[in-house]
Amino acid sequence: MRIAIIGSGYVGLVTGTCFAEVGHHVICVDNDPNKIKRLQAGDIPIYEPDLEELVRKNVQLDRLHFTGDTRAAVDQTEVIFIAVPTPARDDGWADLSYVEKVAREIAEALTGYRVIVDKSTVPVKTGEKVAETIRRYAQPGIEFDVVSNPEFLREGSAIADLMKPDRIVVGANSPRPLEKMREIYAPFNAPFMVTDLNSAELIKHAANSFLALKISYINAVAAICEAAGADVMKVADGMGADHRIGRAFLNAGLGYGGSCFPKDIKAFIKIADELGYSFDLLKEVERINEDQPRRFLKKMHDILWVLRDKKIAQLGLAFKGNTDDIRSSLAVDLALRMIKEGAYILAYDPEAMDKVRDAHPEIQLAPDPYTAADGAEALVIATEWKQFKSLDWGRLKSLMRSPIVFDGRNLLNPEEMRSLGFEYHSIGRP
Ligand code: UDX
Repeated sequence: MRIAIIGSGYVGLVTGTCFAEVGHHVICVDNDPNKIKRLQAGDIPIYEPDLEELVRKNVQLDRLHFTGDTRAAVDQTEVIFIAVPTPARDDGWADLSYVEKVAREIAEALTGYRVIVDKSTVPVKTGEKVAETIRRYAQPGIEFDVVSNPEFLREGSAIADLMKPDRIVVGANSPRPLEKMREIYAPFNAPFMVTDLNSAELIKHAANSFLALKISYINAVAAICEAAGADVMKVADGMGADHRIGRAFLNAGLGYGGSCFPKDIKAFIKIADELGYSFDLLKEVERINEDQPRRFLKKMHDILWVLRDKKIAQLGLAFKGNTDDIRSSLAVDLALRMIKEGAYILAYDPEAMDKVRDAHPEIQLAPDPYTAADGAEALVIATEWKQFKSLDWGRLKSLMRSPIVFDGRNLLNPEEMRSLGFEYHSIGRP
């Protein structure tokens, strides 16, 4: 299948690369000429395990191309994916102006039947608007179908999520585009679920919000565990063993961040409001999440009293492990809050430091965890990087001025930490 992907950001680039990997011919489009130049040279602007290798391989095999020319891409392909950002506006609504602009550009380039697929995360009823827009701007009589095909990929495991998906959701209001969609996804061997356009759009918002709800739920349970002297990890294991609940996304911590959950939940609340339903449950999910860093800081105040002039080492700045992404990162948020209180923060992250250096020059960075910990009066773990578990904690202890650890991701074993001589505090564990 010949496929165009409009928008070569995270979702577009990974999706296009995986389509090429299974044998399709893919043209990735972006309006940023610098990005296109870099991609053509094999320079990948994001950190995602295995992506660079797959891009290079498929470019060499002549199955993956990059261009700034939407018209040419539309002309040469049968199915066109829209994969542009839908960031949150200040009022919480999803900003759909990029989607609308791309819809117009596609419309003006259409010369014959095409399937236009919305991959960007959008509020329900956006597909209908995209179809209306294309109808308005295309030459009269041109045939096309608009399909919704939400992505469920997680940063850090995006390639695996895409190559081995739990399900493919395709929402369409007519059967005509389904054949091409089935052909695109046949090599992925996953359940292919067909719905109407609106239901497919809702599946994405409802799924992400439910995962965020699980996180806020366990964070609320963690607060009760702290008050009752119980262990939230054991509670999560016991709950999660029920297959109707599942253990995933029941890890208590600083809360959820990233480029998806915060904005998708806001957008879902907004569209629900517009449709006449006040989604108070999700408003509470947000409130609990916003309260997590404050609760964590309170724990630090209870032990350290005043943060001003204290030297604190922070491990982790990315919004989660295995990514360099710091968008809506609660780890960055925590560092900034401590700096505002006058603490001297020296932070380390395996991948996110370049981004932090550019966006938050006020956060001092250390080249490794041991330098960060040298002379520190406390150490904070703010991101769930697996490699933090296997650090030489004995060495870290000997470097610190006072061996106090605040683990905001429940990454370490409390008994082991205490047997090493640390004063160890985590979330929802005695
Ligand atoms: C998410 C969805 O998982 C994915 O399906 C969707 O397509 C895009 O949004 P992503 O933003 O990459 O993916 O991150 P995810 O792995 O879901 O984690 C989101 C946040 O939740 C992170 O900040 C993470 O630290 C936090 N989290 C996750 C927890 O606090 N506890 C958990 O148990 C799981």
